Amino acid sequence: MEPGNSDRVPTGIDGFDDICGGGLMRDNTYLLAGTAGCGKTLFGLQFLYNGATRFQEPGIFLATEERPVRIRRNAAKFGFNFEALENENKIAFIDASSTKIGMPSVEKYVDIRRFDMDNVIDQLVAVQEDIGATRCVVDSSTSISYMLNDPGKVRVEMLRLGSTMEVLGLTSILIGEMVPGDPTRGFYVESFLTDGVIVLYNERVKSVRLRSVEVYKMRGSEHSNKIHPVEITPRGLLIHPHEEVYGE
Ligand SMILES: Nc1ncnc2c1ncn2[C@@H]1O[C@H](COP(=O)(O)OP(=O)(O)OP(=O)(O)O)[C@@H](O)[C@H]1O
Ligand SMILES: [Mg+2]
Repeated sequence: MEPGNSDRVPTGIDGFDDICGGGLMRDNTYLLAGTAGCGKTLFGLQFLYNGATRFQEPGIFLATEERPVRIRRNAAKFGFNFEALENENKIAFIDASSTKIGMPSVEKYVDIRRFDMDNVIDQLVAVQEDIGATRCVVDSSTSISYMLNDPGKVRVEMLRLGSTMEVLGLTSILIGEMVPGDPTRGFYVESFLTDGVIVLYNERVKSVRLRSVEVYKMRGSEHSNKIHPVEITPRGLLIHPHEEVYGE
């Protein structure tokens, strides 16, 4: 186990903590935004996996879109064995996806009620009692906003979710799905409500796509103001903290 620091929560993602002063701020809520396929889920998984395996920090993954069974399978391809951690009560997946689409679920934690913020919060509190988590990932918060479908309500409910997670002692990442050309989804509201914003990019440059990451805001912390190259390696995300994507 690596030594912990009381007010920083290291993601343990290679290179990332170097661009944000050593890690996320404890008990804060972050928006991790990006377009489809840019590595958001992978980032969230690595944050939880590293927490549980290296920093003695149990974690909760609230899955509202991709079902946990698929997430575990994809994670295993990078060498992350979540099942073992779940058996040790170091990780919990909450399946808030299957019921919504009428699929049966074999998960330990399944949200079978109507999907609303009260239910989400009840689930988090219950799981928290079981595993004493200090990290949480919500994948994705965009589907929660879609469900609420009222900008005023989204604001209040997202604030409520963030405050609850803070009270529960969770350092949290809300995943926001950005749609090119539609700034109102996944970023616009959430970016003001959260303590920090991380943006993953996968942009076309000539005939290839370049992956990169930016710490867009981070309340209470210094951070890089550059856009850093990202690679997806067989071991997961790798950030180059000393390089810039669009540098000279
Ligand atoms: N084993 C692998 N090796 C290298 N790259 C991979 C591997 N598996 C997935 N990828 C890359 O990672 C991308 C998916 O990452 P991830 O699921 O984290 O993205 P996401 O931002 O969560 O996407 P979505 O918005 O669809 O949920 C794939 O599109 C692919 O480019
Ligand atoms: Mg995803």
